[in-house]
Amino acid sequence: MEKIKFDFNNMMSEFVGENGISEADIAALSGKIEKAEKAMNEKRKCGKMDWRDLPYNQDNVVKDIIEYAYSVKDKFEAFIVLGIGGSALGPIAVQQAINHPFYNELSKEKRGGFPKLYVADNTDPERLSYLFETVDITKCLFNCISKSGSTSETMSQFMIVKKMLSEKMSKDEARNHIVCTTDKENGNLIKIAREEGYKTFVIPSGVGGRFSELTPVGLLPAAMCGIDIKKMLEGAAFMDKISKENDIYKNPAYMFAVLSYIAMKKGKNIIVMMPYADSLKFIADWFAQLWAESLGKRFDNSKRTINSGQTPVKSLGVTDQHSQVQLYTEGPFDKMIVFIGVEKFKKTMTIPKIYGDIPSLGFLGGITQNTLIHTEQMATEYAILKSGKMNLTITLPEVNEFIIGQLLYMFEVATGFAGELLNINAFDQPGVEEGKNATYAMFGRPGYEEKKKELESRPNKNQKYII
Ligand code: PA5
Repeated sequence: MEKIKFDFNNMMSEFVGENGISEADIAALSGKIEKAEKAMNEKRKCGKMDWRDLPYNQDNVVKDIIEYAYSVKDKFEAFIVLGIGGSALGPIAVQQAINHPFYNELSKEKRGGFPKLYVADNTDPERLSYLFETVDITKCLFNCISKSGSTSETMSQFMIVKKMLSEKMSKDEARNHIVCTTDKENGNLIKIAREEGYKTFVIPSGVGGRFSELTPVGLLPAAMCGIDIKKMLEGAAFMDKISKENDIYKNPAYMFAVLSYIAMKKGKNIIVMMPYADSLKFIADWFAQLWAESLGKRFDNSKRTINSGQTPVKSLGVTDQHSQVQLYTEGPFDKMIVFIGVEKFKKTMTIPKIYGDIPSLGFLGGITQNTLIHTEQMATEYAILKSGKMNLTITLPEVNEFIIGQLLYMFEVATGFAGELLNINAFDQPGVEEGKNATYAMFGRPGYEEKKKELESRPNKNQKYII
């Protein structure tokens, strides 16, 4: 089986020098690691980590998704996801990773007969209006995704879409243009879906937003653009087996968490994810939410204030070599860098042997862009190492469904494990809820009267500071 490779040599002091991590640092954590492993296993056993079982318990869901996708794909020109955060980042990341980078510009035939995919993940009125100017909504299937079924951004889009559809077609026709992905019981969306008769896929109640890519949240949009979702789940199952390994030197997910934990303790408050492949650019986006929302916590499990977390920064190789790498090499020792490389690209592009008489160009002639990107990745890794900055490299044999399933699952397990090491709840998001609640209060939503009072009592802005 093709497996992703996790190389953490450059995290270690042997290689990176005094700012690195020693085997003794790792050994000193053995008690904590054991406790974290136990907690992960126990939580899984008693159903508190339902996301870990997704690779195994969704045969019927997958069947339903595939049947549905094949039954509707010919009827629509575009599949439009309405969702945000954990209900949008995964679908974007996977589609961008697997599919043609200009998928929407291809003919339907070249898209395998599948519709175009758009993800409306903001309330920016311009982007949404321009989207509706670009597509013919009578030929669109809208997938409203919301675990809570009440997120203002998503539900506002849904309301706009519903009205637009009602102006163009009968209720019965409009029903077939909407598919919902939400909780089985809770929230407005499931109630609306039931009342109005929309096809609905369920997000298992024990799976939180940012851990939900392998539920219908991610599986339906992926299947709707021809991605093999069974292979994705197989990849996740494969990584699950690896992630059960007790020896952390054989467990990349646990080791990723341990190294990041030690890095945080050593003041590396930033984690840069730098894939060297355009296809993986949005994996860094997805990871940013997973890591930030899960680990950024004010309190630990004993209610002590700890303000934990590591700020994820999204970067792209080689593009950002010409933007951020100067900072990474010569700037402060406050970050660890995660490179993601790809061994085998889907395409090869050879640089023609021209300008041989110009030495500064001639050396490029005859090599491939593939060699160039690999070499630049190694060269940047070397420059970062030389500057004494921690870095590690994850190498994907190639980018396909099986490998992406592995990668996503590895990061999810790493995040859960890092949460245990930090002794925090990695699965809640009170900071996000605070913003959501403040929005509801500002609009005077019933039930948020106290929050409104709290907001109204905040100090008025000092005009002196507004120029
Ligand atoms: O990870 C999370 O829980 C959040 O980022 C949510 O995914 C995001 O707020 C969207 O929530 P919902 O799916 O309930 O609309």
